[in-house]
Amino acid sequence: MKPSLNMSKSTDPKNNISVSWSSPSNIALIKYWGKHGRQLPRNASISFTLDNAKSITRITMTDLTEDRKTDIEFLFEGQSNPEFAQRISNFIASITEAYFPFLKCKHLKIESSNTFPHSSGIASSASAMSALALCLCDLELQISEKSVYDHDFYQKASLIARLGSGSAARSVYPYVAVWGNHNDVNGSSDLYAISVNDKIHSVFKDFHDDILIISDAKKHVSSTVGHQLMDNNPYATVRYKQANSNFTMLLTALKTGDIATFGKITEDEALTLHALMMCSDPSFILMEPRTLEVINKIRSFRQKTGIHVYFTLDAGPNVHVLYPHSHADEVKLFISNDLIQYCQNGQIIFDQTGNGPVKLA
Ligand code: DP6
Repeated sequence: MKPSLNMSKSTDPKNNISVSWSSPSNIALIKYWGKHGRQLPRNASISFTLDNAKSITRITMTDLTEDRKTDIEFLFEGQSNPEFAQRISNFIASITEAYFPFLKCKHLKIESSNTFPHSSGIASSASAMSALALCLCDLELQISEKSVYDHDFYQKASLIARLGSGSAARSVYPYVAVWGNHNDVNGSSDLYAISVNDKIHSVFKDFHDDILIISDAKKHVSSTVGHQLMDNNPYATVRYKQANSNFTMLLTALKTGDIATFGKITEDEALTLHALMMCSDPSFILMEPRTLEVINKIRSFRQKTGIHVYFTLDAGPNVHVLYPHSHADEVKLFISNDLIQYCQNGQIIFDQTGNGPVKLA
């Protein structure tokens, strides 16, 4: 569906509903890489929900007096953005009939912005799609006049976010979320993420994740293409099995507060993700030489000092530096003395695990 410009909106204020949410990005510890059907994961994943890297979205919904199609107007950071607008229009069209029939015959003004620079190379789909999903579910709630932000509300928001971008399913919960069916987690599902926050050791509730921007260039390969490449990857089957057992070990470490095991599994997962891309056909090298320099520095700093500092990577060159709050002073000094020179224009996003989405006025 193309965002259309020709519409006639109702002027009755009752027919104007506006909702707004901020929703954070998340960083996967056990990676989702490989999918099937409509956004169903090949393995269960676990992530930290971040605190500072967020999208803020507002939807203002108005009745249309004519034209039965949902009419979308999309502004990103105050500017119209035809590429994003088209993607969002298509997405909303694909979920209207099944999940939000009330959207028919409505004009939606969607305004979105990020707290992190768009050109930082940080994938914004998790925060953007989760914020959008929360707003859509909130509109539904407003119409029903229930206004109860309960378990079902977040479950539906997670499901809708997943349909927009798989990893977004995990962003609707605080601190630690699981997406994908796994024997170790009751209630886990491929359809939506769930919170495992109440089982997690307190050391992971203020865990730091400083994102070193090694390159702010657009990704070489989209996640969508990356996931597809898993379909013919010769190591796919063994990878999905490995993800399952890494999941078990990581969840145990998160529960018991075992930071060394957490770090080992997290680093293995990051390097496996990149190894899978290197042995795909076509092959992609998503790290930069500076990514490797930073990884080596982190490992030798850890060995020398005994301080728990680890890394993970997304499907790109930037490095997430993970460490407990108790070592924040030493690690921040290490970053500013030894790592910042590898960052493009010295860019770093200082973040940590956080409390999840917030409904805004
Ligand atoms: C490497 O969620 O961006 O970040 O479902 O196609 O939108 P789509 O993919 P996306 O993939 C994320 C891949 C990852 C790992 C992860 O977040 O689990």
